[in-house]
Amino acid sequence: MDRSNIILTGFMGTGKTTLGRLLAKRIGYKFIDTDALIEEQVNQTITTLFQTQGEDVFRKLEAELVENLAQKEELVIATGGGLVLNSKNVEILQKTGQIICLTATLEDIIKRVSKQKNARPLLQEDNPEIKITELLRQRRAVYQQFPQISTSGSSLEILVDEILILADGSRD
Ligand code: S3P
Repeated sequence: MDRSNIILTGFMGTGKTTLGRLLAKRIGYKFIDTDALIEEQVNQTITTLFQTQGEDVFRKLEAELVENLAQKEELVIATGGGLVLNSKNVEILQKTGQIICLTATLEDIIKRVSKQKNARPLLQEDNPEIKITELLRQRRAVYQQFPQISTSGSSLEILVDEILILADGSRD
């Protein structure tokens, strides 16, 4: 049986955590959310960590976590949206499993992230829509290197099925 990990990446608000949790439950894997693990480790929210120690420290913690997770199997990992911008993280994660990128329409992203505005330090702006559009433009090429699934307009159940098919699904 294939025990390799399934790694969900993609921009903020594309559904990585929600779908990752459901997917893990479906296939009996452990669910890991990299942001949540870092918050536990430093005992601070990501927003406070960015404010007190800066983004660089956060990115270093992400990279350390990736090294650690690469030793494990049977994980569904929801990454923070910027984790794959570091190509070394990608290289390591690709050796342990399949990376799938979730996407959503700009409208859905804006709607979803506005619900948890304070949880997203990169979007603490007067006009988060402009920032989202700019970040999406900057990151497009990075996200496009992975197989993609749009989470706009499909049910969660169908999306879990789609992810499993993409991840080469003899797991269920
Ligand atoms: C970030 C995304 C966030 C979190 C941090 C930075 C990014 O995670 O890691 O705020 O650079 O896109 P989510 O994608 O889970 O919101």
